Amino acid sequence: MTMMYARPKNSRIFQAYKLVKTLFKVFKNREEVLLGRILIPYLKGILEKKNVFLVSASKFSTPQYFFDEPCLTEMTARFMESFSRHLSRYRVFYAMKSNSFAGICRRLVAEGLGLDVSSGSELARALSLDCREIIFSGPGKTDEELRLAVQHRSRVTLLMDSLGELQRVSHILKQEPVQGEPLRAGIRIRHQEGWSKFGIPLDDLGLFLKRAGEVRGLDPQGIQVHSSWNLDPGPQAEIIRRIGIHLSRNLPEGLLKSLKFLDIGGGFWPEQGEWLNAQNTLWGKLIQAVDSDFELGPGHYYRKACSIEDFAEQIAGTYLQQGPPLSNLELWMEPGRWLSHSAMHILLSVVDKKGKDMVITDGGTNLLGWERPLSEFIPLINLTRPSLTEHRVRVFGSLCTPHDVWGYSIFGKDVRVGDVIIVPDQGAYTYSLSQSFIKPKARVIQYGGESLREVEEEGLKDFGIRSSNV
Ligand SMILES: Cc1ncc(COP(=O)(O)O)c(C=O)c1O
Repeated sequence: MTMMYARPKNSRIFQAYKLVKTLFKVFKNREEVLLGRILIPYLKGILEKKNVFLVSASKFSTPQYFFDEPCLTEMTARFMESFSRHLSRYRVFYAMKSNSFAGICRRLVAEGLGLDVSSGSELARALSLDCREIIFSGPGKTDEELRLAVQHRSRVTLLMDSLGELQRVSHILKQEPVQGEPLRAGIRIRHQEGWSKFGIPLDDLGLFLKRAGEVRGLDPQGIQVHSSWNLDPGPQAEIIRRIGIHLSRNLPEGLLKSLKFLDIGGGFWPEQGEWLNAQNTLWGKLIQAVDSDFELGPGHYYRKACSIEDFAEQIAGTYLQQGPPLSNLELWMEPGRWLSHSAMHILLSVVDKKGKDMVITDGGTNLLGWERPLSEFIPLINLTRPSLTEHRVRVFGSLCTPHDVWGYSIFGKDVRVGDVIIVPDQGAYTYSLSQSFIKPKARVIQYGGESLREVEEEGLKDFGIRSSNV
């Protein structure tokens, strides 16, 4: 009898096989060069509002966040229209973490969206903004945060993260008066590699729903799942399919009856795609891993993304294709980045010029909250001397750290002290992360289509939650 042995996973041959596979993956998924046919229309689009930006900079000075409210409204309408074409029953909750500025949240609530919050302070903010439909998700919710959700259960659906959280909610519900409606709830399913701290395995869904159904004052109604950074709807479609199959094969009728929604989270990437500097492409990373001194060129690269219309068609198509029981549920979504990214820009002025190829601006990357321009390519435009031609100029912020870099080139005829520069499309994951590090946070100027006004960040009610300064 011959015995077959599996080759040990740490054998040289296996390692070499894995390396070849990785190299093949890098080659197959390599980023494309960001060509002028993509970049130029983008720059032209930003420059259409050049005069408004310049008026705003001169009237309110820089640095400033420029909140473009009509753009937010337009993006929202496009998102909703795309899904309305395919689905009659769906709900959208804006993921407040992507930009918690009250003006943005208020506008979206006025457009009929709910808010997706992930902490007690975000929940307090959503309640202050009079939002009627709030979903509260996230791991490690404190008792204080859970209690706030319980107290405002007419407006909040709690998306639970674990059996432990269910136990604590059950305890809190026993302490709170149980008059009126029960607390609506859902459970988050874990699914993405690297996101193992979230939710429960899909195989535990039945057990969770059974236990949750036994808690007095709790109404478990749905399932939540989130996949991030989706350049196309593939990952969302895949999870819909997985859940559809699981529900029809594994959940008994009694538990299925309680379900009303499937929330697929956010992760819709804006259609301009992901724009990268050379060092953040897969090739760039590989080359630098081999030779850290290797100087990569100044080129720009990108990964393609689908339009929201394509997202809607594929997500809705997959969803409807599953048939009951899945298609009986209402589809919920939690977009953040897609709605907020183009609704806010940063305006800066040049305060110093050090030779031909280096300028210092009056705002630092504390306004972004992270060193985003070191990895992503953000086209800086000189609004005072605009041009579609790119010039090599190092553009720094004024923080006392060498990592405070806005970019290595600028679109403009020249750049001089006093020129106004726009850092476009900085609405997502910047304002909420900004910090007063060395320099203070910047003011927000709201553009309403006709008028410009400075908007103070509102002192919203904290509902007894500590440090509600989101
Ligand atoms: C649970 C959940 N929902 C929604 C979002 C929003 O994602 P995005 O801004 O990519 O749409 C996030 C972001 O991390 C999230 O964790």
